[in-house]
Amino acid sequence: MKHLQTFSITRRLPWTTAALLAGGLVAVWSPKANADTAQLQTLLQRNNCTACHLIDKRKYGPNLNEVAARYAGHAGAVAMLATKIRAGGSGVWGEDMMPPQANVSEADARAMAELILALKP
Ligand code: HEC
Repeated sequence: MKHLQTFSITRRLPWTTAALLAGGLVAVWSPKANADTAQLQTLLQRNNCTACHLIDKRKYGPNLNEVAARYAGHAGAVAMLATKIRAGGSGVWGEDMMPPQANVSEADARAMAELILALKP
């Protein structure tokens, strides 16, 4: 009986190794995306954007994955969004108004614009 058990463990070993390797690859592959999303989340919370925006669900304002999709490949989108983040506005996503966010620093606005546009919807 004992040798049978050993046998089945050796048989399973390649799969276990493969699973561990695959897990390791995923872990090595995704940290950048995850780190960026976490950084964006921190900035959104710090600047109270989460009152109206979520990354993956529509709240009062457009969800930020939609924003990323809309401006994918647009030249000048970072600067345009950074300005809009601080100035607010309406008419792009509907009639709802985004109030000016005067307390948001230029650096945060630019960082959030870059991170939003880097989302992979
Ligand atoms: C009171 C709710 C509210 C808050 C707070 C708010 N937004 Fe908005 N946001 C909106 C609405 C509504 C729109 C859609 C405006 C439009 O259609 O032009 C919008 C649009 C946007 C857009 C897309 C702009 C475009 O022209 O496509 C971005 C990016 C954005 N918001 C980021 C932010 C960030 C970052 C913050 C935090 C500093 C923030 N918003 C705070 C309501 C809000």
